[in-house]
Amino acid sequence: MNTYDIAVIGGDGTGPEVAREALKVSEAAACKFGFKINWHHFDFGGERFLKTGEVLPDSAVADLRRFKAIFLGAVGHPQVQPGILEKGILLRLRFELEQYINLRPVKLYRAEDCPLKDKGPEHIDFIVVRENNEGLYAGAGGNLFKGTPNEVAIQESINTRRGVDRCLKYAFDLAKKRRNGQPWKGLKPEDVAAGKTTQLTLCGKTNVLTYAFDLWWRAFQDIAPRYPTVKSDYAHVDAICMWFVKNPEWFDVIVTDNMFGDIITDLAAMIQGGLGVAAGGNLNPEGTSMFEPMGGSAPKYTGLNVINPLAAINAAGMMLDFLGESQAGAAIEAASVKIINTKIKSLAAGKMGFGTREVGDLVAAAV
Ligand code: IPM
Ligand code: MN
Repeated sequence: MNTYDIAVIGGDGTGPEVAREALKVSEAAACKFGFKINWHHFDFGGERFLKTGEVLPDSAVADLRRFKAIFLGAVGHPQVQPGILEKGILLRLRFELEQYINLRPVKLYRAEDCPLKDKGPEHIDFIVVRENNEGLYAGAGGNLFKGTPNEVAIQESINTRRGVDRCLKYAFDLAKKRRNGQPWKGLKPEDVAAGKTTQLTLCGKTNVLTYAFDLWWRAFQDIAPRYPTVKSDYAHVDAICMWFVKNPEWFDVIVTDNMFGDIITDLAAMIQGGLGVAAGGNLNPEGTSMFEPMGGSAPKYTGLNVINPLAAINAAGMMLDFLGESQAGAAIEAASVKIINTKIKSLAAGKMGFGTREVGDLVAAAV
């Protein structure tokens, strides 16, 4: 029997509650598809920091590196100054474990969960590949004369050819595999005639960020010919925001830098029904990857059994798929879709018509 060792960081606020449901559903899938999971729990987060003054002990990264996957609930604590836990846990793990891809599927499961007029599941089904190790998140910069009228603050976007190339390669490989060779319905007849099956859009700002996105643009042009079935496309980030609202059906796969990826995936999460369902994976295909719901720790809902666990459950589905249990991943997604369409009133916290635990039970039973 295949056995997987998976690290779990429940984290802060509602993180542990949604993680519990994700683990419950994963167990149901393991039972159904005949594999075993050993969960290894770690208590990193705000509570531990407040007690010990330590965000991540020095040994943590080395401990976590032994796992192929980490499941993360959420970090962020109302009594801890913003940035300490986010940078000290989430970003540190993304960087030190070289999780260079942040993968965020955007799928609408039910028309009524979408705030856009006249858009349904047939219009919203794309995936964002966000570069996850560089850009403005690299922390390059500094300040001069801080606290004086002459203060200067510099925050630089770091883009390396190696980092951009590996991100683009991941995105093109993903686009090539997507939809199993069946042409994506957004393609024009002439694209299909030319043998294209999927589309990859580079999201940038080549008209203003003429150093960073010049590098991205050239790297994109250089790699594209190696993928004859992928139609390559480009859009500025501001235009993408407009089109997510007006014509989300124009997108299939999108690749972008760290900061733009952060921003457009919050917008994308809203058109797919909100943070209650939006999931993501921080991937190092050769090392340790980390899966998480996109939402934060939602302190005001903590312990009330009202938060929506579907984003965490979907993240667990992505994790099992990534580990090679693709049937289990697909079964979890199908079970969430079924429960959304037959049981759940709304995807918003406190309005589901069921509690957090009950939604986990329903999805687990459907698996
Ligand atoms: C996300 C979050 C993080 C980010 C924060 C919590 C540091 O917004 O995963 O998108 O900016 O990447
Ligand atoms: Mn974000």
